[in-house]
Amino acid sequence: HPVTLSTTDGEALEFCCGSGQSVLEAAAEAGVTLPASCRQGTCGSCHATATSGEYRLGAHSPQALPPDERRDRGGVLLCRTFPRGPLTATLPYDGSRVLRGAIPVREGVITALEEVAEETVRLEVRLEPDPEEGPGCQFEPGQFVELQPPGEEDVKRAYSLANTGNWDGLMEFFIRLRPGGRFSGHLRERARPGDPLVVRGPQGAFGLSETGLRPRWLVAGGTGLAPMLAMARHMVEWQEPHPVRLVLGVNGEADVFGLPELRALAAEAAPVSGVPGLPGFEYDVCVWRPGAGWRGPVGTPADLVRAGLETEAARPDVYVCGPPPLIDSVVEAAVEGGVPEGNVFRERFLPT
Ligand code: FES
Repeated sequence: HPVTLSTTDGEALEFCCGSGQSVLEAAAEAGVTLPASCRQGTCGSCHATATSGEYRLGAHSPQALPPDERRDRGGVLLCRTFPRGPLTATLPYDGSRVLRGAIPVREGVITALEEVAEETVRLEVRLEPDPEEGPGCQFEPGQFVELQPPGEEDVKRAYSLANTGNWDGLMEFFIRLRPGGRFSGHLRERARPGDPLVVRGPQGAFGLSETGLRPRWLVAGGTGLAPMLAMARHMVEWQEPHPVRLVLGVNGEADVFGLPELRALAAEAAPVSGVPGLPGFEYDVCVWRPGAGWRGPVGTPADLVRAGLETEAARPDVYVCGPPPLIDSVVEAAVEGGVPEGNVFRERFLPT
């Protein structure tokens, strides 16, 4: 079956899909690697919109593709889409996020592994120099890689990068250790600095969009902070003229992390002796169920977004990353506050 996928910058990807083959598999067979992670209908990262044609949607999680999005807007997950005839669909990203050829695989070594909050670790990996690309690692803020202990295919897991591309080959991650999670178990029980890891990527379509000079609000739930840090760091490094407001929400005080990184960013963005600095970098950390000692904002990121939009004159672009319920509540608050839905960019964090 002929398939045509269009990117946001007008590129058309054309290939054929065999019977019983998913669009994602057929694309890979044609040498086109599309953003995807779990490849089993649970993470939502291969989301697209079907515009014409007949297809069957295989089993998938309603959190990765909500029923109304499927029914009313032609939403599909390409890893679960099996064409029954010619199919056309639009992709929610530009052609730069489509890899020609296979996903790059590199070897890395753990250089730091430290607990930064309850059940949350900071992991740093240094990539071994690539024979062709050299020592660095280049990726876009918002992208992820898959990490895997060598030889253990079934312990593979995708994590967003928290730092920006660099020539030292360094990758930084903030990872929530999940009960029963295989890679979580590996980090908790076995991994040590000096251990090797296989790194697949960079991958993923989440990232900064050029929609004009509006303020950017970066809203994170838990370790959804990682891609937000990457985007904020990128904007500070490149002195992008957007005012930036970052909101991190966690459940309890013991879950708070990332404060040293946020303070460092605020200091870097601040004006220094006559140099105006950036238009502004502000951040808030809010706790949903605080103990007696918490002095910061109380509530959810959606509460802060709602309150912020009541006092802010300009409508910002809103980026949100975290578990699906948090994303849904933030999208609702943003849209109710007058942000067009097309200016809300989201990345769902789902256990695979
Ligand atoms: Fe398709 Fe995860 S890659 S839902």
